[in-house]
Amino acid sequence: MKQLFLRKKLKADFVEVDEEHHGLQRHLGWFQLIVIGIGAIIGAGIFVITGKAAAEYAGPAILLSFVLASIICVFAGLCYAELSSLIPIAGGSYSYAYVALGELPAWVIGWAVTGQYIFSASTVAAGWSGYLRSFLQDWGMAVPAKLASSPFRYDIGDGWSLTGAFFDLPAMCLVILIGIMICVGIKAVARFNSLMVIIKLSTVTLFVLLGIAHVDTANWVPFIPENTGHFGDFGWTGVIRAAGLVFFAYIGFDTVSTLAQDAKNPQKDLPRGILGSLAVCTVAYIVVAGVLTGIVSYTMLNVPDPIAVALNAMGPSFFWVSSIVKIAVLAGLASVVLVQILGQTRVFLAVGKDGLLPKRMSKINAKTRTPIVASITAVLACMILAGTFPVEILAQLVSMLTLFIFGIVCLGVWILRHTHPEFKRPFKVPLVPWVPLLGILVCLGQMLCLPLITWGQFGFWLIVGFLIYFSYGIKHSVIRVKHTERKD
Ligand code: ALA
Repeated sequence: MKQLFLRKKLKADFVEVDEEHHGLQRHLGWFQLIVIGIGAIIGAGIFVITGKAAAEYAGPAILLSFVLASIICVFAGLCYAELSSLIPIAGGSYSYAYVALGELPAWVIGWAVTGQYIFSASTVAAGWSGYLRSFLQDWGMAVPAKLASSPFRYDIGDGWSLTGAFFDLPAMCLVILIGIMICVGIKAVARFNSLMVIIKLSTVTLFVLLGIAHVDTANWVPFIPENTGHFGDFGWTGVIRAAGLVFFAYIGFDTVSTLAQDAKNPQKDLPRGILGSLAVCTVAYIVVAGVLTGIVSYTMLNVPDPIAVALNAMGPSFFWVSSIVKIAVLAGLASVVLVQILGQTRVFLAVGKDGLLPKRMSKINAKTRTPIVASITAVLACMILAGTFPVEILAQLVSMLTLFIFGIVCLGVWILRHTHPEFKRPFKVPLVPWVPLLGILVCLGQMLCLPLITWGQFGFWLIVGFLIYFSYGIKHSVIRVKHTERKD
């Protein structure tokens, strides 16, 4: 039983691989890490979900929902920043949990992170495919429906049914292209991601600059529409419910923490990358939400392309901007998929190195300096899910897993301040234990607001994780072998 909670010791157990010959390429500085963070964060959340959250739950007060969701992320972001400066190795929250809580909790976190990245990358890839279809349709080109959606559908009332489609080919192609890039090397990834981030940030800026002149302050009144009598339907409870939904928009800054072995100076650059990308996106989201709900009434925003609706409302002369916005959304979503699959490869790498998954996951190709087996595994999983599964039913599970992981990371900061007060922390969370404690409480509070079905999916995913650990990981764990040798 005790062995399930064996912890890694910071100095003894984190022996880095021979950097010169077998390590990843340390190519990323703090600026590139911020760009990667933005690449992972800005995507479907702002371009798609904001409209639904404003129209159905919060009205113009969606702005407050963004502020609320950002508070959860700031608590977690500060804790990630401290741990990434204390434990600057690949694997992010999985590695932090190994030091703070021990092997089994670390595995649980690693498994939760795997779900978070694979499910959200697949969900966003399927969203990308939907957007591509609509974009091509605008230009008179149709993708055959049979080749552009999952063969299965799930409705809460009717259960599972067949759609008549074969698979979602565009989503699968996107994942394959991204997989090739990830296998080629971190430089290619960083370059492609920077291009995508430039496209999406320029579009967001263009939207704000053009939109500000068309803001009608009457659209902001009432700022918090009156509650309809049901929890979550407008009023303050609506603001909270919408915060749960737009929380998805912030997911991604944590990916920066998995890239410690790709960073030039991880102890300084990771905290900057995490907090910097979070800050840029928070400001961008609040401004976009304000302008969006100022241009049109929130009641018109329950559509998959709310930004385009706002642009169309500005007049026919803005049609060209709405096409640009669609391109930006495609770029934005592609970079989210890219960075999440990239993060997953680094998690597989770390878990494989510890023996909890097959060792070959941690093998780094000498020529490309990338973990090829880990990359192929992550890409295959995403490709199959995005191409054949109705992934939209997993969107709230992604938020649940993320909140769970954030809560544990906050707990990790608190525990390590007690167990390892002597270690040097280039970045320190202020006001410990209050900040981690509040982080845990807000994550737990948001988790409790998620529907029962999401809790069921969460439980199922954890059970699968336990089965893998007790049938494989427990027998191959490197730290257990070391521990047994020390005892002998
Ligand atoms: N934050 C990412 C998005 O909004 C997951 O698409």
